[in-house]
Amino acid sequence: MSPLLEGVALSKSYRQGGEPLEVLRGVSLALQPGEMVVIVGPSGAGKSTLLHLLGGLDTPTAGKVIFQGRNLYALSDRERAQLRNRAFGFVFQFYHLVPELTALENVMLPGWMGNGGGPSAKTAQRARGLLEEVGLGRRLSHHPGQLSGGEQQRVAIARALMNGPELLFCDEPTGNLDSETGSKIVELLVRLNRQERRTLVVVTHETSMTQVAGRVLSLKDGRLWG
Ligand SMILES: Nc1ncnc2c1ncn2[C@@H]1O[C@H](COP(=O)(O)OP(=O)(O)O)[C@@H](O)[C@H]1O
Ligand SMILES: [Mg+2]
Repeated sequence: MSPLLEGVALSKSYRQGGEPLEVLRGVSLALQPGEMVVIVGPSGAGKSTLLHLLGGLDTPTAGKVIFQGRNLYALSDRERAQLRNRAFGFVFQFYHLVPELTALENVMLPGWMGNGGGPSAKTAQRARGLLEEVGLGRRLSHHPGQLSGGEQQRVAIARALMNGPELLFCDEPTGNLDSETGSKIVELLVRLNRQERRTLVVVTHETSMTQVAGRVLSLKDGRLWG
């Protein structure tokens, strides 16, 4: 099977003041369709940096990311943003929901951006279905401030699924939750992977997630170890 996404010799340095800070030093990995990869590493190891590079959110200092035969970083910013919106979903530690919008509107948002138009009955219907799927069918008109952390993360997961992404990128998805709520989120991610065959890349410093992963890699000293 050919990989769904491939990172090839990715390096990333941040220039802060004098010496450049080398965070990634030649990281390569290939993600197969339907797998769930968990990348662990201590805080500051470069996990978010790597996830952002793989998801087309940042620019590598060297190397490339191949998705469907195309190098993400050979595309224009606009083309890359379009591809991201269509094919990738993102889940972050602090949810990144729009506080002024309801749960339903937050989930609909990628749908509006995708078709360039405003809210439609079709996007609303799909968003409602996704919120039901994550157990929030009765929270449609709540605003993020009226939801618990775990509920906000469920909204964020539903939003990430809105455009039917081929890949789901999760950055410390349980990092802001108590362990019980966190394990419910892990269960949901595992269900998305095992039952719906969605491909997931999760980066976390929490080693508990390694138990449910199809494959575990560790990021250390700027390199990935199998
Ligand atoms: N925009 C930036 N500019 C300068 N340094 C950064 C920037 N982003 C991250 N870093 C540094 O890169 C290292 C890795 O960061 P990050 O990828 O966020 O690690 P992790 O997610 O594993 O905690 C850290 O030492 C951090 O301080
Ligand atoms: Mg991080």
